[in-house]
Amino acid sequence: NPLWLIVPAAGQGRRMAAAKPKQYLALGEKPIMRHTLERLHAAFPEAHLVLCLDPDDQWFDPGWVPFSRWQRVDGGSERMDSVMQALAAIPAEPEDLVMVHDVARPCVSVADLGLLLSHMQMHPAGALLAMPVADTMKRADDSGASGATEPRDGLWHALTPQGFRFELLCRALDQARANQLMVTDEASAVEALGQYPRLVSGRRDNLKVTHPDDLALANAILAAQQR
Ligand code: C5P
Repeated sequence: NPLWLIVPAAGQGRRMAAAKPKQYLALGEKPIMRHTLERLHAAFPEAHLVLCLDPDDQWFDPGWVPFSRWQRVDGGSERMDSVMQALAAIPAEPEDLVMVHDVARPCVSVADLGLLLSHMQMHPAGALLAMPVADTMKRADDSGASGATEPRDGLWHALTPQGFRFELLCRALDQARANQLMVTDEASAVEALGQYPRLVSGRRDNLKVTHPDDLALANAILAAQQR
């Protein structure tokens, strides 16, 4: 059975405050989206890609897609809606593996992608790339003062990709929608079903390009990885 790759790329990237959505900004010679798709393809050339795009998108070029099997779907108003649109569009079997990766993470390594897939195969509740928190964590009070220090032990950053069996992921997101749970990643929807995805310690340079100064950082990471 194929591996299904869902890439939500229907966001506006407002925090970037650029003239076009951040996935179309250039890193070196190529738009962020193209870097991301090329990394995924290097790891999984046989996978079936589902790319979620804004229905009014004016920048996408199908020539950037290196996969031979792929389709585009219209994204929704939230990230979760875009992922659900993709799930609704694919003729997957219940036990097929589905990996979801944000277009805004172009620095994901091929080695981490392979590592994650092996964990998805081993763990019925799925798996996600993650990294342990390094900084001391503060909880702000209403005034913006440091109200408390949260123990850092056991705290992780959730990254993407995240991967699950098709049936579990559909059930988790349907349930989250029915309960009006605002989930910002797939794993939180699965956790809400009482199942616990495996945290897979990934590289620390799997940056999510979000703010303007992330572009220089992502450029430096890509250059360092090429060495
Ligand atoms: O804005 P943020 O980086 O949190 O978005 C995470 C990912 O979800 C991005 O890849 C973005 O393109 C995607 N997204 C989407 N549909 C939305 C909102 C965000 O596909 N409605």
